[in-house]
Amino acid sequence: MTGKLVVFEGGEGAGKGTQIRHLERHLDFGVLVTRQPGGTDLGAELRRVLLESAPGTVDDRTEALLYAADRAQHVAEVVEPALLLGRTVICDRWVDSSIAYQAAGRRMDRVWIEALSTWATAGIVPDLTILLDIDPLDGLDRAAHRGSADRLEREALDFHRRVRQAYLDLADANIGRYLVLDATKPEDELAATIARRVDTLLGTAPA
Ligand code: TMP
Repeated sequence: MTGKLVVFEGGEGAGKGTQIRHLERHLDFGVLVTRQPGGTDLGAELRRVLLESAPGTVDDRTEALLYAADRAQHVAEVVEPALLLGRTVICDRWVDSSIAYQAAGRRMDRVWIEALSTWATAGIVPDLTILLDIDPLDGLDRAAHRGSADRLEREALDFHRRVRQAYLDLADANIGRYLVLDATKPEDELAATIARRVDTLLGTAPA
């Protein structure tokens, strides 16, 4: 695989979308921007089921399998072909979302969740994971201003606290591929830090 995979992770309202747009602009739009769930036509349908179903109607194991199914389709149809062509792929969420939300948030068996996602992604691991860390109280407040809460956003605060801690633990355990940023910092400052780190990864840093 010659292309690089850069992933954004974080809890609700962390500002991934905004920072992804900054990075895409910084890289002159010469990158593939995509997301999980929803990066394929099939994935868009799964995303709707996952986020718009009424609370309490999706069993936890079904949820884990649907995220993994979205991921398998996305890798096969979009991500792996792009990486094989040497393209840079920027993805909103990856396997660590399932570790944070399903394993930690839902308290499901992490070994199963990891195995499922590793299988779904054919073992593709991001070259860089940018974690936009935010206190869920602030993040959920920001997300609430965006519109009505989806099924995951409506989970209890404790659920979102477990998600945040899981991300911080993942970052600690994978220091080499993680960049952890305080998502409450000014937007431009975050964008500049991310641009520098990605330039180093891609070898596009200004001389
Ligand atoms: P977002 O892409 O708009 O951030 O929303 C996706 C939602 O789905 C978010 O609440 C996190 C959740 N999610 C999981 O629970 N597990 C996963 O594996 C992924 C990719 C997302």
